[in-house]
Amino acid sequence: MGPRGIITIDGPAGAGKSTVARLLAATLGYLYLDSGALYRLVGWQAAERNLDLGDTAALSAFLEGLQPEVAADAQGFHLFLDGQEVSQVLREPSVSREASRVAVLPPVRDWVTARLRHLAANGGMVAEGRDLGTVVFPQAEVKFYLDASLETRAARRRQDWQNDDAPPSPEKVAMELADRDRRDATRAAAPMRVPADALVIDTTNLNPQEVVRQCLARIREVLPETAGLEMKTG
Ligand code: C5P
Repeated sequence: MGPRGIITIDGPAGAGKSTVARLLAATLGYLYLDSGALYRLVGWQAAERNLDLGDTAALSAFLEGLQPEVAADAQGFHLFLDGQEVSQVLREPSVSREASRVAVLPPVRDWVTARLRHLAANGGMVAEGRDLGTVVFPQAEVKFYLDASLETRAARRRQDWQNDDAPPSPEKVAMELADRDRRDATRAAAPMRVPADALVIDTTNLNPQEVVRQCLARIREVLPETAGLEMKTG
């Protein structure tokens, strides 16, 4: 059996977490866990059903009834509702705001955290989000925090609109990101923070392979059984 550690990657949107997490998971033969997809699922479904987020009883009934199936491997994190894959719709830019609106609610955080911990029961995963190293997996063997300038992150996020005729301006994307960062970092429940024992990497001027190289150097120090693994780029 290969190494079965837990590796967390936290940081704001557009810092490069997903790309780096997938590359690391492929290299290590670990599963990739995308916690943001679960917040997106809750936000999207709450909006679809016009849920009153202030109604605690309705919220808890909604969460109890929300039973996605999850298929995780090294490349992807796929969510299904009633047998239909919903991963694609969850990446829609409009769902980002709905996700961060529900992410402030403790019952929603508990719902997501319980699912993530269940998926990680056997270890062997790279998990990314905002509170993975601080709250969900404080015992993780290796923790990273990726960050980049707002301008760079906005430029990366703007590619999400690449199929649109009228993508929003770079300034508008940057404003929305800054707004979401503020909400994620200042909420009372599990705010986005740098875990005390995380390696912080500024990805502004780095490509994903360079970031992965730095991450692997750290992982090899902590998990010696990973010493011989070569970076997989696909
Ligand atoms: O990472 P992604 O952009 O998919 O996350 C969407 C939103 O979900 C974030 O802006 C944040 O509000 C919330 N989130 C969170 N905690 C996590 C992951 C995501 O609050 N661990």
